[in-house]
Amino acid sequence: MDRRLLIQRVLMGTTALLLAPGILTSCEKTEFKPVDQSPKGPDIKTDIIIDLSLGDNSVLNNNGGSKIVSGIIVVNTASSGFVALAASCTHEGAQINFSSKSNNLQCPSHGSVFSLTGSVITGPAAIALKSYKVSRSGNILTITE
Ligand code: FES
Repeated sequence: MDRRLLIQRVLMGTTALLLAPGILTSCEKTEFKPVDQSPKGPDIKTDIIIDLSLGDNSVLNNNGGSKIVSGIIVVNTASSGFVALAASCTHEGAQINFSSKSNNLQCPSHGSVFSLTGSVITGPAAIALKSYKVSRSGNILTITE
């Protein structure tokens, strides 16, 4: 073997060794990480109290009335009484609104629609809104996890 051929083979071998890790890495299996599909919404550290006798909360005395308190939309529905759900769309975080006409929650940004239980009716949102417990005693609504 002449000297020139030897040098060429050594250089080709070195190049192959330098490229091998990248090639081998691309053949490795990527680890599957499941996407968290649990409903999204703020955690409540202490109960949220809403006094329906106060003027600021009077909208909740009407069927179809809604108000956002601490990132939670509270709705007086004609069919389900009071419901409380996360007020931020799970798609990109826009503030959702209650539609008394459709009896659901709608996101004005890209059109996602959620049921009164928080489940997705229409995307692009893929994750449900977190729902909260609402109890009523007289004029006092208490919202808890
Ligand atoms: S932010 Fe609500 S649908 Fe995109």
